Amino acid sequence: MGKTFDIGLDRLTGGAQFSIGSAITTNPGTTKNEDGFAHAGAGVAASQFGAIRSASRGTFFLETFGCQMNDHDSEKVAGVLLARGYTQVESPESASLILYNTCSIREKAAQKVFSRLGEFGVQQNDGRVIGVLGCVAQQEGEEIFRRAPWVSLVCGSASYSKLPELLAQVEAGNQRVTGLDTDTDETFETPVTRRDNPWRAYLTIIEGCDKACSYCVVPYTRGPERSRASDSILREVRQLADLGYSEVQLLGQTVNSYADPTARKMRFSELLLAVADAPGIRRVRFTTSHPRDFTQDIVDAIDRQPKLCNHVHLPVQSGSTRVLRAMQRTYSREEYLEKIAMIRGAKRAVSITTDIIVGFPGETDADLRETLSLLDAVKYDAMFSFKYSPRPHTPSLAMSDAIPEEEKSRRLAVLQEKQREIQVARHATMVGVTFELLVSGKSRRENHWSGHTSCHRVINFTSQERALLGKYVQVRVTGATPNSLLGEQAP
Ligand code: 5AD
Ligand code: SF4
Repeated sequence: MGKTFDIGLDRLTGGAQFSIGSAITTNPGTTKNEDGFAHAGAGVAASQFGAIRSASRGTFFLETFGCQMNDHDSEKVAGVLLARGYTQVESPESASLILYNTCSIREKAAQKVFSRLGEFGVQQNDGRVIGVLGCVAQQEGEEIFRRAPWVSLVCGSASYSKLPELLAQVEAGNQRVTGLDTDTDETFETPVTRRDNPWRAYLTIIEGCDKACSYCVVPYTRGPERSRASDSILREVRQLADLGYSEVQLLGQTVNSYADPTARKMRFSELLLAVADAPGIRRVRFTTSHPRDFTQDIVDAIDRQPKLCNHVHLPVQSGSTRVLRAMQRTYSREEYLEKIAMIRGAKRAVSITTDIIVGFPGETDADLRETLSLLDAVKYDAMFSFKYSPRPHTPSLAMSDAIPEEEKSRRLAVLQEKQREIQVARHATMVGVTFELLVSGKSRRENHWSGHTSCHRVINFTSQERALLGKYVQVRVTGATPNSLLGEQAP
């Protein structure tokens, strides 16, 4: 599950402020026209977008919490709204429709939306329509109407394909509109997507999750796995390349469990190679991979095709086989380490990142030591670590031996200190090395830029050039801290 990595990398940059634009893309693979606006055919450029809008309906504000899947869902939701004639605004105050795309992976994330909704309680009946989308919507369902009666729309991600109909009901004045079914085999494909980043395009290839990890609410909130047809994915990739996107990031909770529903039955590794073959595409990423489905052919594809980025996000969750069993992760520590050895066997150095949960019910000091020794064994390039948070509708909710909060915090601190040491050592080896960067950020400071390497490190660098956004440049690393790399453009 993706954004954790991006959030982490943004954190690694030391919080520098960078700005990016946004772009609207139309999906040539989609022929649906269920919400009544003219179909946007292949090759419709962003500048022509106005022509496919229906009559103006008002303004919307959309705030997104959580992972990259949610970010990308929001890009598609925004596309649906723009196509219906809404205009996007930057603040809830100036919006007639306010939407929150929510995350419920941990309790803190889920609480955020209720504090946002609370801000509106005092101002209810001012005519604005408020909607809750995403995982909290699915998790809480109609309970949201009880806790926040000023909400009119509650819609989980598995129902987004019905969003145009649901919006039509909201526009007709219906105060209680829900989209909460998860028994769907549809993926959320939109005729128009309003993408936030003009160079890197997210593309969901598989939605939902069938893995049933005992701590995780995602199978409940996002429903069963549904893979998108390979021909539709490849058509959209070609169109994105035509529009100037050079980097594509394929998304899925378990992206490498992709199962092509068409007769072509493309394997995930074949899909990666086919995406990379699209003229104009220079980088292909994918996240998040599940260790069980990570197979040699993916490494072979990375070896064969340099456009496939040398980064794999492979969440381990724990280094203790006993805890992994309780988490129902479907692999042991040894089996996970075999996958790592397979990736390390690639011809290029591949950066590996992970997610870890501490304080799972029954986790002992010995289990934690196993996790710490796994960090030593793997030497991850980055780690995203969390205190176990009990979630509704999950098997681990009923487990005894809960770990006290203070103890979870202590374990998290120990784990993060270990990873900090590993990163200090890793970063030190990078000083003097030159990387190719896709420049995606310009600092407010004169001549300061930022971009990602193929291995998904952020480097903040200096350059005397004026127009670098969206370009690929060579950057030599000149300095490193535990959390960030600094560099200068190489001649
Ligand atoms: N508590 C803490 N962390 C969790 N994650 C998923 N569910 C929980 C939970 N209940 C973490 C996992 C996953 C990442 C996105 O969030 O590490 O990989
Ligand atoms: Fe959650 Fe496990 Fe599915 Fe990831 S693989 S989304 S952690 S159930």
